Amino acid sequence: MTYSETLALVFDHIRRTIPRMGTDRPAIGRGDWTYERCHDNHWVDGFWIGQLWLAYAETREAVFLEAARAQRPYFLARLDRPDSHDHDLGFLYSLSLVADFKLTGDETARRGALRAADFLTGRYNPHGRFIQAWNSQSEHDRNRGRIIIDCLENLGLLFWASKQTGQPRYREIAVAHAATTLETIIRPDNSTYHSFVFDPDTGERLCGETVQGFADDSCWSRGQSWGIHGFAVAHQYTGDARFREAAVRLAEYALAHLPGDGVPYWDYRLTDDAPHYRDSSAGAIMAAGLFLLADQVADEAQAARYRDAARAMLHALIADYALLDHPEAEGLLAHGASHVRQGYTDNMLPYGDYFFVEALLRASGRTAFFW
Ligand code: GLY
Repeated sequence: MTYSETLALVFDHIRRTIPRMGTDRPAIGRGDWTYERCHDNHWVDGFWIGQLWLAYAETREAVFLEAARAQRPYFLARLDRPDSHDHDLGFLYSLSLVADFKLTGDETARRGALRAADFLTGRYNPHGRFIQAWNSQSEHDRNRGRIIIDCLENLGLLFWASKQTGQPRYREIAVAHAATTLETIIRPDNSTYHSFVFDPDTGERLCGETVQGFADDSCWSRGQSWGIHGFAVAHQYTGDARFREAAVRLAEYALAHLPGDGVPYWDYRLTDDAPHYRDSSAGAIMAAGLFLLADQVADEAQAARYRDAARAMLHALIADYALLDHPEAEGLLAHGASHVRQGYTDNMLPYGDYFFVEALLRASGRTAFFW
């Protein structure tokens, strides 16, 4: 099957799911192939609308535009609930209001996305030169000084806001955060910590830790994928070779540690007696990131290696994980590992679905996205 044939099935699948989803948003898959819905203020809220906007960008069919616009009031209203914000504003608003603005030029969407960017800059810690990831409950909460590798995906919102407004501050914060992440979260062997903790009052660099990986010194595969894609996006906006090289280092580590079919286990450093769940979302994010990175490296052989690896990952996802011929499934990919330590081990995941579509579109030559 060609990529365009697969994409036609993907868009059919999304079309079928639209009336079932209504104005809901998928959170995590259930055993009967339906999605548990998001309650308000979930970090994954943006991935369904992101798929709708990608489908609209590609097909220009009104059904996708109308479904995406039906979701918009939620994202606008959420801006008025600052208690619902953490660093995931980039995931949320790049795929909703930035996408809307890029595709339709709508001014309400632009203004909303800029408000989201403003909130994100409010999380910047100048002592440590980082964006605080999660919210803290008290003065002594370690989250006051915590970054996580996932945050790289939130920086696109800031780079976009600088371009829109001509104000350098958004971009300066994004560059500072990406540089701090590079210096702290990547280990000398090119594996990564999920999280790094700073003294929030002095900026002193304290230690790497995990929350969703197997161990503090292991390498959570979805985090590695966020890093590959996120650093490549930072390079796309800045042309800063440090960020391209960071993406290359992470890609080389992941490629050297993938299982035979190219779909990662949930962590690259599992002990033999640890549960070996696959994480299809880590594969989809990495495939999208490898296609982007392949366009950025000068060496043609290296670029070809990344494209070949991304295609192999996509083929494995299509063959063994995709739910395209499953009429009851509300998601696109099975076997995602959301949070193994909390018991979420084998589910459809909306971010796996979104990045599967992005990777298929990148494989087909599309280069314009919403990050
Ligand atoms: N950003 C949270 C996750 O990847 O699970």
